[in-house]
Amino acid sequence: MTKITIQTIRDMKARGEKIPALTAYDYPMARLLDAAGIPFLLVGDSLGMVVLGYPDTTHVTMSEMEHHVRAVARARPAALVGADLPFKSCETPAAAVENARRLVNAGAEFVKMEGGLEMLPQARAIIAAGVPCCGHLGMLPQSVLEEGGYHVKGKTEAARARLVDDAKALTAAGAFAIVLELVAPSAARDVARAVAVPVIGIGSGDDCDGQILVTPDLLGLSPDFIPRHVKKNFHLARRARFAIMEWKQTVQCIRNE
Ligand code: KIV
Repeated sequence: MTKITIQTIRDMKARGEKIPALTAYDYPMARLLDAAGIPFLLVGDSLGMVVLGYPDTTHVTMSEMEHHVRAVARARPAALVGADLPFKSCETPAAAVENARRLVNAGAEFVKMEGGLEMLPQARAIIAAGVPCCGHLGMLPQSVLEEGGYHVKGKTEAARARLVDDAKALTAAGAFAIVLELVAPSAARDVARAVAVPVIGIGSGDDCDGQILVTPDLLGLSPDFIPRHVKKNFHLARRARFAIMEWKQTVQCIRNE
């Protein structure tokens, strides 16, 4: 399969081709998603909830991110592979660059950082250091404790204008794409139209340039909570439980001579 690059992803928006993106946290999942032709894989810090059993993403460390980025990179996917800069890894531009480099050394081809105008110095520093950077606007999961939950963004005129300004500023700083999480669909459409780079939505309506989901949510594998924007029509966990129980019964039925 031809290697997907940052330019491939940008060209998809230019051609009006929607970008399907999913999260991956380990080698077998990266192999599976790559074989299915998903062009954009993210080692998200959602890792914290769907793999590591934390209550939210604020517990995820740089070493945990590196560990999982290495596992995904070992699959050598054709897909473009990115990684989240976790909670408090970007307090200063220098820290952002150091941590972005750590993720690149682990195998990431780009990093994703949460925040808009307030994070511009960090975004500029990462990009100046030669690391491709994807922005993340709208609901910022690393701020869930401050915000007291996962709330839809961009519902007022002022909030919509701020999202557009954030997206334009990140793009001007050199971000190659923007993830837009839990944004009112009409505001998400405005953001996608305002910038030339791909806007990849999650729970932000159909008018984004692409869609990203947390893969265990898509597959019905997330043990605790599946967000409202995920169509819950596939329950891999249920199927797996049947297979495991069936196997357990075959073991229990073995009668030795
Ligand atoms: O952490 C993550 O998986 C993400 C996606 C939901 C976009 O940021």
